[in-house]
Amino acid sequence: MHIDIFTLFPSMFVGPFGESIVKRAQEANLASIAIHDIRDWAPGKHHQCDDTPYGGGGGMVMKPEPVFYAVEAVLGMGPGDPPPCPIILLTPQGERFTQQTARELSCHERLALVCGRYEGIDERVREHLIAREISIGDYVLSGGEPAAIVVVDAVIRLLPGALGDPSATFDDSHASGLLEYPHYTRPAAFRGWAVPEILLSGHHANLSRWRREASLYRTWLRRPDLLQAANLSEADRAFLRRLETDPVREGSPDRQDP
Ligand code: ADE
Repeated sequence: MHIDIFTLFPSMFVGPFGESIVKRAQEANLASIAIHDIRDWAPGKHHQCDDTPYGGGGGMVMKPEPVFYAVEAVLGMGPGDPPPCPIILLTPQGERFTQQTARELSCHERLALVCGRYEGIDERVREHLIAREISIGDYVLSGGEPAAIVVVDAVIRLLPGALGDPSATFDDSHASGLLEYPHYTRPAAFRGWAVPEILLSGHHANLSRWRREASLYRTWLRRPDLLQAANLSEADRAFLRRLETDPVREGSPDRQDP
């Protein structure tokens, strides 16, 4: 997969993309990321990229020309040509980014991400260049850059081979529509806090049922909204019905609210 990122602050990406899984995916040629400074395409001596809003009001607005010129040059499009890949704007006004969005995006060979800044971006960019608008949550960042970093990370870790263990994303929180079960590693007891017995038992069927119920329980406690859309078996539903009458789960690290 190749990802082009268009930004006024290219150096913001250096740290996050130079570490861990995103770095390794690039080294393994599973992903390539190119950061483009929109200012390089801004006309005029001063390469001005923002201006005051027509109609007045506070703040500055990103000018359309530098964004159009940058995206068209990098994607090899003439004005009005169909783009070779989805062009996505990061904005608090976009659709909410979810694991499902990350899965969809990970199926593309190429993506282009445009980072908005200032009070916003000239509306003609949205209307005539952007295919999709994505928000990473209901809060306002100072620009789309941190959001682009989040999107790239969530997408790249889904590419086959990006994680050492191919099944590693299978149980991830949100992968199946549930929160993930709790994890433990050595030592078996720390400061008198023991790892749940079942994890040491080596009994696979019991262990996978324990994990499933721990995952259901945690989701029921923390994010009951997710249960509506989750893929649940009859045994899962029976477990959730039992929770409604007996909400205390023996040996669970999750606390029930009083
Ligand atoms: N730019 C500013 N806030 C944002 C958000 N919540 N998501 C995506 N891009 C943004």
